[in-house]
Amino acid sequence: MILYYLLILALCFIKALDGQIHNTPPKALQAQSLFPLRSLILPGQAIQKKAIIIGASSGMGNALAKHLLAEGYLVGITARRTDRLETVKQTYPANTLIRYMDVAKPEEAVTVLNQLVADMQGIDLCVIASSGYYDQEPAARSWDFNQPLLAVDVLGVSALVRTAINIFESQGSGHLVCFSSVDGYHGLAACPLYSAVKMFLSRFLDGERNRCIQLNLPITITELIPGWVNANPEHGGDNPAPGAYWVESLDDATETIYKAITEKAPKAYVTARQEKLVDLLKTIPNDLYNALCARPGGAF
Ligand SMILES: NC(=O)c1ccc[n+]([C@@H]2O[C@H](COP(=O)([O-])OP(=O)(O)OC[C@H]3O[C@@H](n4cnc5c(N)ncnc54)[C@H](OP(=O)(O)O)[C@@H]3O)[C@@H](O)[C@H]2O)c1
Repeated sequence: MILYYLLILALCFIKALDGQIHNTPPKALQAQSLFPLRSLILPGQAIQKKAIIIGASSGMGNALAKHLLAEGYLVGITARRTDRLETVKQTYPANTLIRYMDVAKPEEAVTVLNQLVADMQGIDLCVIASSGYYDQEPAARSWDFNQPLLAVDVLGVSALVRTAINIFESQGSGHLVCFSSVDGYHGLAACPLYSAVKMFLSRFLDGERNRCIQLNLPITITELIPGWVNANPEHGGDNPAPGAYWVESLDDATETIYKAITEKAPKAYVTARQEKLVDLLKTIPNDLYNALCARPGGAF
């Protein structure tokens, strides 16, 4: 038996060594950059970083767009409510590009993304914050009332994730950031489909990240895992989740997200303490979990 394992180990070692010797450089590094101007840096000139934020008209996407603009980024922002994007542009008009995008229409959305990247002559960072959560009725039991979650978070976001990674492969580098949720890590009774689509995104991002690692592509993929973030005063006022155990402020969330971006973290809880909650929920019995959640307004 031991001999058998040793033989397998030896075969793996030889195969890995063979890969090292014969491995061709990753396609991304062989490919001619689609955006030759990206690498043109004049002496003494600082490189301006470029980012696209999809879903920047409200919430964390909106706050992050403002933060990146303040940090000196050139930022392309997209959403359906372009009037709200105009408000962001007012502060840094020269550094802000606005595009209408409906993520529920993947073919159109992908075209807008490709065109915006071309207009910006390449990007360093793409953040996908869109979700169909507020276009659906979370508690409705008729199957069709939750459909925006499938249209936006599954079909639309997965198409944009794949497109952004393809763009980064062509460029030779890039950083993709996408939101899942702590709700993807347990079954949310209040909106089971939301848990399902967020876990779909989490696994999808894991798979895309593993592909980049295995192909040695210089692409970073960050999964942001927020708990409750008080990100939308228009949905529920200043205290949208009175029964929730931990609610994060938008400022704390934005700080955590920016740190995850600068550190190129593969996964980041928003905020960090939410990781403890997810770990705890994995260990408690289901009966206890349901009892805690069943109290009026009870939610994690
Ligand atoms: N806030 C939380 O407590 C929380 C918790 C866990 C996870 N998350 C996740 O974190 C991300 C950001 O959430 P948030 O609460 O900060 O923001 P939010 O206010 O829900 O904003 C989401 C953004 O998505 C855009 N969007 C929605 N449907 C779209 C569509 N069909 N096409 C294009 N854009 C669309 C909205 O723009 P338009 O409506 O203008 O198009 C908006 O800019 C989401 O993925 C959410 O699921 C949030």
